[in-house]
Amino acid sequence: MKVFQHVSDIGDLKTALAEAFEIKENRFKYSELGKNKTALLIFFNNSLRTRLSTQKAAMNLGMNVIVLDVNQGAWKLETERGVIMDGDKSEHLLEAIPVMGSYCDIIGVRSFATFESRKDDYEEKILNQFIKYSGRPVFFMESATVHPLQSFADLITIEEYKRTSRPKVVLTWAPHPKALPQAVPNSFAQWMNAADVDFVITHPEGYELDPAFAGNACVEYDQMKAFEGADFIYAKNWSCPGVTRPEDYGKVLSKDMSWTVDARHMAVTNNAFFMHCLPVRRNMIVSDDVIEAPTSLVIPEAANREISATVVLKRMLQAL
Ligand code: CP
Repeated sequence: MKVFQHVSDIGDLKTALAEAFEIKENRFKYSELGKNKTALLIFFNNSLRTRLSTQKAAMNLGMNVIVLDVNQGAWKLETERGVIMDGDKSEHLLEAIPVMGSYCDIIGVRSFATFESRKDDYEEKILNQFIKYSGRPVFFMESATVHPLQSFADLITIEEYKRTSRPKVVLTWAPHPKALPQAVPNSFAQWMNAADVDFVITHPEGYELDPAFAGNACVEYDQMKAFEGADFIYAKNWSCPGVTRPEDYGKVLSKDMSWTVDARHMAVTNNAFFMHCLPVRRNMIVSDDVIEAPTSLVIPEAANREISATVVLKRMLQAL
């Protein structure tokens, strides 16, 4: 595997899940694979889970790990070609990327949507430059439009906890005070569309996900109706994807607190498990009682980030 961005990059999902459970059984089984290999993890944005779980995954495989917080200690980077660099940016990404590539064997990058341009965000302008100029395999640690390590961990979690062979999985929008990217819901939709589940998306009008990710998923604008009989509730806020009105891209169109997932919502489900990628704003996205219930999977879900990252790094090492 040279790039890990979309669900298609991981190939057959049953095989990927079998590998995940093999690693979960013995996470050091491939500890010789990464000997004398270096993973460079580059963060343009904050992280707790991705940073720790990906470092742990690389260590499981015997790799050396370098973590760079671009905004803390590195030179401020220019990303646009043709700019006269007479401002506060001392280095261009076009030099920085191949230099970073020269110090490692595999690169992971986190770079969120800027909301300055829907076109630039959805063309993955930053990550694609890493793919083009680093000379190394690149895996996405949450980009402008996708968060595949999270979705793979979510799929592992659903596989572990499902009580029927084809569970009903509902992705629900929930309110948040700030504009958040669409990376998590985009990827979750993409992975659930590829998995053997009955997948439903619910959100207020105007929050339609890009069709490249939503695919043929059932969209239900009535949240309570969507929740009926659900086996898994996956809550997440996202800002306007700008599908129907491009001028609204990145805007907060609603803070309707009736969409906060609480006991009233969970009561119409099939005793559903609650999922969220974390970090989560309590009593905006989900009530205290729902996230603290025995049916809340947020901690095992986060723990599975180590497993998804180990599988992805293992695949990349095997392809070097
Ligand atoms: N879920 C997730 O990616 O968490 P972090 O932002 O803390 O890495």
